[in-house]
Amino acid sequence: MSKTSKSNQQWADHFTEKAKHDNYPARSVYKLMEIQKKLNIIKRGDFVLDLGCAPGSWLIYAAKTIGDKGTAVGVDLQKVDVQLPSNATAIDGDIFSLNQVNCFGLNSNSEDEPNSIKKYDVVLSDMAPSTTGRRDVDAARSFELCNAALNVASEWLNIGGNFVCKIFHGSDFKEFEKSVKANFKQHTIFKPESCRKASKEIYIIGRGKI
Ligand SMILES: C[S@@+](CC[C@H](N)C(=O)[O-])C[C@H]1O[C@@H](n2cnc3c(N)ncnc32)[C@H](O)[C@@H]1O
Repeated sequence: MSKTSKSNQQWADHFTEKAKHDNYPARSVYKLMEIQKKLNIIKRGDFVLDLGCAPGSWLIYAAKTIGDKGTAVGVDLQKVDVQLPSNATAIDGDIFSLNQVNCFGLNSNSEDEPNSIKKYDVVLSDMAPSTTGRRDVDAARSFELCNAALNVASEWLNIGGNFVCKIFHGSDFKEFEKSVKANFKQHTIFKPESCRKASKEIYIIGRGKI
């Protein structure tokens, strides 16, 4: 094993062990924790949508952050089989084929407001395509997922709401950044320390939906 791949492996092992110790199913949780520490995007009582939520780390962390008065809904192609906090739900589904009104739990149907639609305060997307090893292809697939996530946010995020989206840096990155900039008062590009240095992934955070 080369020196670089050995240190990459040690890095991955460190965060995987830490996640196990902290009772999260994946080390990706530390990326969201860093984003939250820097930008405070999730507030207590928020209604949060987590796109690409399996195996469930972000969903669990979001549910803890919003507390009992908040609700977190996750969507993924894959089933989440860890136990979730009582204020979190995971739906099996494809972002490209979900009927948003029925599948995202948006119809609150409360006695006070029958058939009322409740929008989200935060939309998170840590979605990643299955990778091919070709950076241009992987980045193009990631760009498609990001656009789908931004479309969901455009429709279902409250005015003033926040958006976090993972993207694989590629030739479409600037175009996506422009779209986020057009939809939010502020936008930030952030690579958490817990991301592998060699990884092309980066996060765009939009705050204050216009
Ligand atoms: C890096 S994982 C997410 C990890 C998650 N944030 C956590 O902390 O546990 C990326 C996820 O995106 C999901 N994904 C990819 N394409 C998707 C799509 N079209 N619809 C829904 N989920 C998708 C994958 O199934 C995968 O579980």
